[in-house]
Amino acid sequence: MGFYAEHIVPRILDKACGLEAATPFRQRACSGLAGEVVEIGFGSGLNLPHYPAEVVSVAAVDPSDVGWKLAAQRLEQATVPVRRAGLDGQRLPFDDDSFDTALSTWTMCTIPDLVAALQELRRVLRPGGTLHFVEHGLAPDEKVRRTQRRMEPFNKRIFGGCHLTRPITDLITGAGFEIKELDRYYEPGAPKFAGADSLGVAVSA
Ligand SMILES: C[S@@+](CC[C@H](N)C(=O)[O-])C[C@H]1O[C@@H](n2cnc3c(N)ncnc32)[C@H](O)[C@@H]1O
Repeated sequence: MGFYAEHIVPRILDKACGLEAATPFRQRACSGLAGEVVEIGFGSGLNLPHYPAEVVSVAAVDPSDVGWKLAAQRLEQATVPVRRAGLDGQRLPFDDDSFDTALSTWTMCTIPDLVAALQELRRVLRPGGTLHFVEHGLAPDEKVRRTQRRMEPFNKRIFGGCHLTRPITDLITGAGFEIKELDRYYEPGAPKFAGADSLGVAVSA
């Protein structure tokens, strides 16, 4: 991994993902999390203040050492035990049926093989466990999609492999989840091509 990807990208993501405008969406995605939780794409721990009291522990999965360092203060203030338990959402180092709930926020854009990561989440979630997500992806409008296709190569280069055109909800259901809550919207204040969000809860059948 080069210097930019290893040291600069996690700092850019910490600032960009840490914007106040994202807070209500993080709160909504974290609402209902309970028990043993696995969070893929933990980054700099921006979800930590939003974990509900029902969460017993968090297994954080992310390849970025710099992201983990940037999380230090939030980890100190966390009210639940958090351990850095894995580096790659595509290959989770956990037994089957180990978790009650899972969380992914603005991460499904970046994991190279998202299908593999979703299959892994299904494997490690107990039957009936839920995946809570807020993710940006393919926009509902063709005009915005055209911009997304144009911008995607630059976006991937600047933001550590972040795709703009992934059909997030199709990929979640394609992996065998059933979506039971879903809100689709453009993030206020963000360009539409980068802010076409899907926020919801999916059940591992
Ligand atoms: C846009 S950031 C989002 C971070 C965090 N979820 C948030 O909401 O602030 C995407 C994150 O995915 C992580 N990531 C990249 N590849 C990954 C992989 N294979 N498995 C797990 N996480 C990965 C990156 O290191 C980065 O922290």
